[in-house]
Amino acid sequence: MDFTLTAEHTQLRDLIRNFAEKELRPVAAKNDKTHTFPMEQIKKLGEMGFMGMVIPEEWGGAGMDPISYVIMMEEISRVCASTSVTLSVNNSLVCEVLKNFGTEDQKKRFLIPLAKGEKIGAYCLTEPMSGSDAATQKTSAKLDGDFYVINGAKNFITNGPQSDTLILFAMTDPSKGAKGVNAFVLDTKTPGVVIGKGENKMGIRSSGTCTISFDNVRVPVNQRLGEELSGFIIAMKTLDNGRIGIAAQALGIAQAALEEAIKYGKERKQFDRPLTDNQGIRWMIADMATRVEAARQLIFQAAYQKTLGGRFTKYSAIAKLFASETATYVTNKALQIHGGYGFTSEYPAERLMRDARVTELYEGTSEIQRLVIAMQTLKEFDA
Ligand code: CAA
Repeated sequence: MDFTLTAEHTQLRDLIRNFAEKELRPVAAKNDKTHTFPMEQIKKLGEMGFMGMVIPEEWGGAGMDPISYVIMMEEISRVCASTSVTLSVNNSLVCEVLKNFGTEDQKKRFLIPLAKGEKIGAYCLTEPMSGSDAATQKTSAKLDGDFYVINGAKNFITNGPQSDTLILFAMTDPSKGAKGVNAFVLDTKTPGVVIGKGENKMGIRSSGTCTISFDNVRVPVNQRLGEELSGFIIAMKTLDNGRIGIAAQALGIAQAALEEAIKYGKERKQFDRPLTDNQGIRWMIADMATRVEAARQLIFQAAYQKTLGGRFTKYSAIAKLFASETATYVTNKALQIHGGYGFTSEYPAERLMRDARVTELYEGTSEIQRLVIAMQTLKEFDA
């Protein structure tokens, strides 16, 4: 078993690290303060192929493997987690759903510009009254001739304010619960789609998040993804992809916090010696480094399982659970090592801690990941 990165993966990591240091580092803290979406950098990342990394070249993507994708997500998140969540949603939740479930026409019309980074996509699943319990969504899609008529609202939509294309889930047959849902792809400019005001968030403040409402939106039947009423399974399979990306985002934030803690701990002197000369601080560094490394291995394992082509639900949930809790833990310790300075915006520790927190919430809370892992583990035991 070889745990080292290949020459190609190392080269890719260096390329992305270089981009992040040069293009994102100078603006990340300022954009966080002013809630400014990094459009210029997202466009450049799109031109480099990072908006549709695992999408085949014939569909506008870079044709890379899932390991390359998690390397990219870790490196961008290490510098700016707001930028990386935009990439994560476009790559895993929007482009991949179209690659896996789109028709030839849907791919031509919607996937190619998204994978090339010419357009930005959003994934509309969550609703004000339906978050963790995704099968109880109220947004309705009623068949009317060759169209579905959509009414309702979706909230906490990442990329919503900047989106050109939406992947939308809506209930066609409420009596069937999870088996009554349809999935659609549509243009944000479709009449009746209303983009709401951006949320004022605790973290990832330069990414866009908003409510989107649907008022008698007419979507042609040929924009439904997959078979009639197969939307819930499409949503869940897509979240299997998304959770690996969010795990890598959490890892990048944790890695950054570890580096910041070491840098500060070596510079800052108290009692005539650097902080890192104290055993108490070293124990903290050891615990942080151990969890970061374990998270990285779980993420590579999940990405590897995905390359095998079978179901990887358990692996992506394990990676997301562990990495997001690691990000919360490591950023908290990093702030502690900074003492009072960590509580000010003079140092990146507080931004990292704020950004880390959401990784335990979106694409399923830590409690949902535990539910998914337990369901899969019990199923394997019975098999
Ligand atoms: N792959 C394939 N099939 C799956 C599946 C998967 N990953 N997950 C579920 N299914 C299937 C089940 O096997 C089942 O099929 P059968 O009835 O034929 O056996 C069917 O789907 C229904 O599954 P469940 O009975 O398990 O469904 P449930 O209603 O109990 O819900 C849940 C399960 C895991 C709690 C699910 O609702 C869930 O994951 N909730 C969290 C939703 C979530 O993550 N939301 C995040 C929003 S997106 C976001 O955050 C993006 C962003 O902006 C960053």
